[in-house]
Amino acid sequence: MEGQALFNKTVLMSQKTQVQHSILYEWFAPLYDLGVWLCALPFGGEGAIRERVIDRASPLKGLNTLEIFAGTGTLSLLAAERGASATAVDITGGMLRAAGFKAEKSGLKLALVRADASDLPFVDNGFDRVMVSMGLHETEQSRLPLILKESYRVLKSGGRLVIFDFFGAEGRGARAVQSLFFTFLEGDTAKQWVRTDLQTLLSRTGFRDFKREFLHSRAFQLLTVEKR
Ligand SMILES: C[S@@+](CC[C@H](N)C(=O)[O-])C[C@H]1O[C@@H](n2cnc3c(N)ncnc32)[C@H](O)[C@@H]1O
Repeated sequence: MEGQALFNKTVLMSQKTQVQHSILYEWFAPLYDLGVWLCALPFGGEGAIRERVIDRASPLKGLNTLEIFAGTGTLSLLAAERGASATAVDITGGMLRAAGFKAEKSGLKLALVRADASDLPFVDNGFDRVMVSMGLHETEQSRLPLILKESYRVLKSGGRLVIFDFFGAEGRGARAVQSLFFTFLEGDTAKQWVRTDLQTLLSRTGFRDFKREFLHSRAFQLLTVEKR
């Protein structure tokens, strides 16, 4: 009974966080890139982080890339810049509109699709790369396996999934800053995310060749896995 009450409380809290996030993203989409740029300053700047992620994705000319939780499509645009064919999926219309403006301004081609990452409107085995940056920590734990399963399904055999997101920071200072950030901006899903055993979850989904690097006092992780 106690466990049930705790479960309900957790589910209700994460639903509240999801609603807060969707309002935030819809209304503040035009300011999102500025917020990211400012937040990334203490970590060597957004450009350096994005380059590191896109290097791991290695979106070579002619490859078909999909970015889920794409937001304003920054990574997808980098993939398009490198000659890949880029599709960006997000659940929030405002974020996709902002991505559309950026694509138009840069003259790069980006396919924008409004969809839930746990139910992707794509055929099996269609993409060489799936990328997700700073999105999965906003997801309820119960939905993570579904999202990974969908990523697996739409990837071609030998295709690569790239994940960039929070990890549990090490060191007193970094831990304190991360904890404040999670409490005031991110919410419970982020606290649960950093405790998730991703290696096991990904291998249960069918992925292999788990590679992970840590950045900035292990506050972030960048990992890749491949589809069998
Ligand atoms: C923190 S932003 C990350 C944006 C971008 N990937 C980046 O690195 O800047 C999270 C994005 O995930 C989107 N999102 C949240 N839940 C989603 C879902 N279930 N399916 C697809 N997108 C989702 C939000 O609308 C938001 O644009």
